[in-house]
Amino acid sequence: MEPTLAPFDELLQWLPAHRVHWSEQKRQAHASDETEDLAFMPDVVVEPENVEEVSAVMSWAHRHGIPVTAAGARTGLSGGALPVFGGIALSMLRMNRIVAIDTLNHQAVVEPGVITEELSNAAAQHGLMYAVDPASRGTCTIGGNVAENSGGPRAVKYGVTKDWILNLEVVLADGTVIETGANTLKNSTGYNLTQLMVGSEGTLGIVTKATLKLLPLPRHQALMLVPFTSAENACAAVAAIFQAGAMPSALEFMERDAILLAQQFTGVTEPALGPDDAAHLLVEVDGFVPEDLLPQCERILPVLEKHGAGEVLFAESAAEKDALWFLRRRVGEAVKAASTYKEEDTVVPRGELPRLLGKVKQLGETYGFRSVCYGHAGDGNLHINILRDDLDEAIWNERLPQAIRELFAEVVRLGGTLSGEHGIGYVQKNYMDLACNPAQLAVMRSIKDALDPKGILNPGKVFPDAG
Ligand code: LAC
Ligand code: ZN
Repeated sequence: MEPTLAPFDELLQWLPAHRVHWSEQKRQAHASDETEDLAFMPDVVVEPENVEEVSAVMSWAHRHGIPVTAAGARTGLSGGALPVFGGIALSMLRMNRIVAIDTLNHQAVVEPGVITEELSNAAAQHGLMYAVDPASRGTCTIGGNVAENSGGPRAVKYGVTKDWILNLEVVLADGTVIETGANTLKNSTGYNLTQLMVGSEGTLGIVTKATLKLLPLPRHQALMLVPFTSAENACAAVAAIFQAGAMPSALEFMERDAILLAQQFTGVTEPALGPDDAAHLLVEVDGFVPEDLLPQCERILPVLEKHGAGEVLFAESAAEKDALWFLRRRVGEAVKAASTYKEEDTVVPRGELPRLLGKVKQLGETYGFRSVCYGHAGDGNLHINILRDDLDEAIWNERLPQAIRELFAEVVRLGGTLSGEHGIGYVQKNYMDLACNPAQLAVMRSIKDALDPKGILNPGKVFPDAG
C-alpha cells in the first residue's frame, strides 16, 4: 500500500480528542500483539465507543484509502492485530458492554470488547454456558475470538467460536452497517454472511455486536492427568477414547517439556513428573449431575491402560482441578519466555496425531531444533513450538522457513491444515499455497475484493505476498 498523507486530525470531527491518539507511547502499545516479537507502528490509535463512530471512521478511511486494523486485547498468535501498513489501529476495547443475557432464548448480545471470561461468568450466573475458552480467556475479547475463530480446550465437545455465533453487526469497509443474519438458531436465508465474517481476521469488516448462543451449564467435571512414557502412545490413545464411545469435554496433550516450562514459569511444582514421563493427556468429562461422570470415566480408563498409560491422577478438589488447568493455560506464555521461538497451530484428523508428532520430531533432528508440543489433542490440534535455544541466528533464519514448509506439507498430506484456532494472520500467510490451491485462493480474493475494493481492512494478512 502507498504511504498515507491524509490529515488524521479530521477524525476529531467524529471522536473526542481523548480517544484519538498520536503519542509514541500509545502507538507503540498498539504496534504488537502476542505474536513473537513483531511490531509495526500505526499512525494513529482510535478508540470508538459505538457503531456510529466505527462507521464514521471507516467511511473516512475508505475515502482516503487508509489501512484500518481492528484489535481487541491483542492476545492473538498469528499477527492478526498487527497494523503492518500503519494507518489506523482501531481499538475495540471501549465497546465492552454485555448488552443482554436473554434467558428466555438462551442468547447473549455483546459488544466486541467484552472479555471472553466475563461473558462466561455472566452467563454462568444464569445457569448458562458460553463454552469457548481460549487459554487467554481471562484477557482476550469476543471480537478477537470472532476474528480468529478461536477455540480452546472445550472445543472438542462444544466447538469453536463459529459454533456459538448466531448473528453479527458489522461495519463494512465503506462505513455501511449490516447485520449478517438473524438472532435465530436456524437460518437458511441466503448466503451465510455470519460465517463468512467469523475467522476473516478483520479483513472483511469490523464486528461491532455479536449475538451468541448459550447452553445450560454443566456444573460437574472429572479431571484426569494421565502419564505416558511414549508421547506417540499418548497421541494414539486420543482417537481410541472416542472410538470407545466417550465424549470428553477436554482432551489435551502436553509433552514433558511443556509441563516443565509451565512449572518453571509459574513456580508451581505439582504435579511431580516421573523420570520416564514423556507426555501427559489431560482428560476432562462433564455432566449436569455427578452421576453423569463415572460411566464416562469407565469408558476411558481401559483405553488409557491399553495404550500403556501410567497411574492416572484424578484431581479431587476444585483447587486441584484449577491448578492443573492453570498450568495448562500457561504453557504458551512459558514457552515464549524460554527462548526465541516459532509457534504453529497445526490441525489434522485426530487419528493422524501420532504421525504428525513423529514428523515434528524427525524435522527437529534434521534441522537441529528442539520442539515443544502441546494442545487440543481431541481436536487433532497440535500447538508446535520450535525453539531457537542456542542456535545461531543466521542458521535459524535460514532453516526455519524450510522446516515449516516441510511440516505444513506433511500436515496437508495427513488431511489437515495450517491453523486450527489461531488464524493465518501475518505469520502464516506465505504458506497458504500449501493448504489452498489457486482456485480456492482466487475465490477468497474475489470475496475480499468485493467487500473491500480498496484493500484498507487489515491489509497484509491472510493472502500470500505477491510474487
Ligand atoms: C493454548 C493457546 C496457545 O492452547 O491456543 O494454550
Ligand atoms: Zn490452543
